Amino acid sequence: HQQQLMARFDARIDDGGFIEAKDWMPDHYRRTLIRQISQHAHSEIVGMLPEGNWVTRAPTLKRKAILLAKIQDEGGHGLYLYAAAETLGRSRDELLADLHSGKAKYSSIFNYPTLTWADVGVIGWLVDGAAIMNQVPLCRCSYAPYARAMVRICREESFHQRQGYDALLAMMQQGTDAQRALVQDAVNRWWWPCLMMFGPPDAESVHTAQSMRWGIKRNSNDELRQKFVDATVQQAQVLGVSLPDPELTWNETRQHWDFGAIDWEEFWRVVGGDGPCNAERLAARVKAWDDGAWVREAALAHAAKEQARQTQ
Ligand code: ACO
Repeated sequence: HQQQLMARFDARIDDGGFIEAKDWMPDHYRRTLIRQISQHAHSEIVGMLPEGNWVTRAPTLKRKAILLAKIQDEGGHGLYLYAAAETLGRSRDELLADLHSGKAKYSSIFNYPTLTWADVGVIGWLVDGAAIMNQVPLCRCSYAPYARAMVRICREESFHQRQGYDALLAMMQQGTDAQRALVQDAVNRWWWPCLMMFGPPDAESVHTAQSMRWGIKRNSNDELRQKFVDATVQQAQVLGVSLPDPELTWNETRQHWDFGAIDWEEFWRVVGGDGPCNAERLAARVKAWDDGAWVREAALAHAAKEQARQTQ
C-alpha cells in the first residue's frame, strides 16, 4: 500500500502537479517543507527588525508611511507562511518556540545592522531584490499551500524593492555628496551578504538535489545567485553606485557576469549565531513574544467565554 502511495506521489510530481495538505506525502517531503517554510516565516518576522530601527527617523512623512506599510507586509508574510507550515502538522507555537530557543534558522541577512537611512533603501533594492529572485520560482512549488502564499508575497516584495530603489535614486539624484556617500557605503556593506542569502554553493548545498527532484525548489542556489548578479549590475549603473567587487566582469562566452569569491566562512559564522546582530535580533523576538503574553491570554479567555455562551 505504501509503495502504491509513493508511486502515485512520484507520478504527480513528475507530471508537474501540485500536492495539497490532505494528500499523502512521504515523511521526508513533509519535514523538508516544514523546515524551509518555517525558516522562511522566521526570516520575514526577524526581517521586520532591521528596518523597524528607522521608523521613527524616516526623513519625510511619505517615506515613513511607505516604510510602515512595508514592515506590516512582512508581518503578514510571516502569518501566511506560518499558516502554510501549520497545514503540514506543526503548530505556530511550536515553530516559534524553535525560533526563540535558537534551534531554528532564519536568513543570515537579517543579522547585519542598519547604520544609516541609506541602509533602508539598500535593503529594499538588494535584499528584497534577492528575495524576489529566490521567491518567484517558489510560486510554482509543488506544495500548493506554499505556492499560493508565495504569489501574494511576491507581489508585495516587488513593491518593497521598488520603494527601496526609489529612496536610493532620490538620494543619488537630488541628494548631497554626503548622502551619495552614505548610499555607496551601504551598498559596500550589503552586497556580499546579499549574495550569501541564496545559500551555500550548489556543491555544498545538502538539500538542493532532493528539493529540486520534488519540485520544492525550482532552481539551485548558484543559478539564482547568478541571475541576481546579472539583473543588478545594470541597476547599479543607473543608480550611479559601484558594486564592491573588482572581479565583476562581463563574460562574453557565458553571457553572464563573473564575480569574485564569496567569504563562506563569514556566512557559516553568521548562520551559526555569531553575526553582528544575532543576539540582538533573537532577544527582540523573545521580548515581543513575552510582552504579548497578556494578549494571547485575553484572546483565549474571550474565546472560552464565547464558547461557554454558545453551549448554554
Ligand atoms: N541564511 C541562513 N541559513 C541558510 C541560508 C541563509 N541565507 N541559506 C542556506 N541556509 C541553511 C539552510 O537552511 C540549511 O540549513 P538546515 O539544514 O539546518 O535547514 C543549510 O544552510 C544548507 O543549505 P541548503 O542545502 O542550500 O538549504 P535549502 O535547500 O533549504 O536552500 C534556501 C536554502 C535557498 C534559503 C531555501 O531554503 C529557500 O529558498 N527558502 C525560502 C526562501 C527564504 O527563506 N527566504 C528568506 C529570506 S528572504 C526574506 O525573508 C525577505
